[in-house]
Amino acid sequence: MGVTAVCPGSFDPITNGHVDVIRRTAARFDQVVVACGRNLGKQGMFDLEERLGLLEEAVGELPNVEIATFDGLLVEFCAQRGAGVVVKGIRDGADVSSELPMARMNAAIGSVETLLLPGGPLYSFVSSSLVKEVARFGGDVSDLVPPAVDHALRRRFA
Ligand code: PNS
Repeated sequence: MGVTAVCPGSFDPITNGHVDVIRRTAARFDQVVVACGRNLGKQGMFDLEERLGLLEEAVGELPNVEIATFDGLLVEFCAQRGAGVVVKGIRDGADVSSELPMARMNAAIGSVETLLLPGGPLYSFVSSSLVKEVARFGGDVSDLVPPAVDHALRRRFA
């Protein structure tokens, strides 16, 4: 059966930074579940269906990666999937500051360990929010997101 890791996120939309983290996680665990959830603190742009389609296009071909949605507590989703490990990418100290309380909360309420994976330097400035902002004003983000996301953003802001 092997060890399953969960890569959670809002993926609104998935960026090349996310792809990097998912690929590196998939290279080190038997199974990876990419869990697309809702961050209550963020206003969404793509609906769940669109985000799932874009995730599928970006990482769906990886043989040990499954894409799923969750609506509720991450620790409950992990328990349903028999996963004791969550992997999240971090770009900088701000990410560490926001991820640490969540990691500790998830360890406290669900015995889920979180591994924080430093993102590659190429993606240190890439976030879904900035990508959306640049695309909204006609900027070129084609090097920063998977091709399907680039197309979706161009369609959205055409
Ligand atoms: O991509 P994001 O915005 O960093 O993803 C955050 C997400 C969706 C993974 C996080 O908000 C989450 O886990 N939400 C589910 C609800 C939950 O478990 N909240 C308690 C976290 S300590």
